Amino acid sequence: MPQDEAMPPDRIDMNRLELISHSPEQTQRLGIRIGELALAGDIFLLVGSLGAGKTCLTQGIAWGLGINEYTLSPSFVIVRELHGRLPLYHIDLYRLDHIEEVEELGLDNYLYGKGVCVIEWAEKGLSVLPAEHLIIQIDYLSDSERSFQLKPSGKRYLEVLGQLKHLTLN
Ligand SMILES: Nc1ncnc2c1ncn2[C@@H]1O[C@H](COP(=O)(O)OP(=O)(O)OP(=O)(O)O)[C@@H](O)[C@H]1O
Ligand SMILES: [Mg+2]
Repeated sequence: MPQDEAMPPDRIDMNRLELISHSPEQTQRLGIRIGELALAGDIFLLVGSLGAGKTCLTQGIAWGLGINEYTLSPSFVIVRELHGRLPLYHIDLYRLDHIEEVEELGLDNYLYGKGVCVIEWAEKGLSVLPAEHLIIQIDYLSDSERSFQLKPSGKRYLEVLGQLKHLTLN
């Protein structure tokens, strides 16, 4: 029997949180809460297909950090630095195809800096990104609904999960 099947379901779900968003506004609300509780050095890894809502969530995180200049206009910039209560480093790995390209970006100043890192298409760089992080996996449920699964690695992100577990989006 495969290992997962032998494990009781509550063990598999332990330390994970799923939130359902019914609109872009609800996704932004989740982002705002994350932005409000973020600390310097936090790493949020966004995983989800095209149009899942990664940028929408990031916009909320920016607002939660007190950044008002955030725009949704498409940009070919891989790293955007914005300043609020803390710096926000918004990194988008979409255009990168090889892990070497991620390494060559020299992201360490951002990843181990004094700001908050939000990384879209983080799955493209997982092996070279910090081991402690919060994965936010976004799945498409319908035109207006998305599932957000929060998967923490490390003590800091378990704490973040605890701060989000009573959040209601509607
Ligand atoms: N509940 C929802 N949460 C977030 N976005 C939603 C939701 N329902 C519908 N949408 C729509 O889905 C789209 C999400 O776009 P967004 O740019 O945030 O996706 P993305 O994951 O960043 O895509 P990309 O991979 O192209 O960067 C927007 O057009 C938004 O209006
Ligand atoms: Mg995006």
